[in-house]
Amino acid sequence: MERKLIRSALDQLDNSYAPYSGFNVAAAVLAESGKIYTGVNVENASFPAGICAECNAVSSMVSCGDRKIKAVAIIGRDTKAPEGKTAGYVSPCGICRQVLREFSDPGELRVIMAKSESDFRFMTLEELLPESFGPDSLEAGKN
Ligand code: THU
Repeated sequence: MERKLIRSALDQLDNSYAPYSGFNVAAAVLAESGKIYTGVNVENASFPAGICAECNAVSSMVSCGDRKIKAVAIIGRDTKAPEGKTAGYVSPCGICRQVLREFSDPGELRVIMAKSESDFRFMTLEELLPESFGPDSLEAGKN
């Protein structure tokens, strides 16, 4: 499962649009339906308008009708790093953690941070975002 998800992210990494940071990121989410949705970071000349890879993958999932994430794989490539130096394990930023929270059970969601198909580590979203604020924190979200 991990390798397939990482492969799906890796396949999209070249599509990352990161001319400003030079830091390419791709993410693949495995939905409860078994479908995999991918996303890359899409930067903007107006820097704050850039969108992270994980957010784009989640948006794609929701747009296609899925609502629950079981696992997410994230992989990065720093084009500004010295030749031969690979990017480290990319940990999701704060906003991405919150976006993942909306569509998951934090204790169950496996966040896979990969350097390659065979080199990865994982944590649960609960570990990355403890005591989170989620849909069931709001009355309207309890339905
Ligand atoms: N980035 C992501 O796509 N996901 C993260 O979780 C961390 C950061 C992107 C945003 C920006 O385009 C580039 O990486 C450098 O911050």
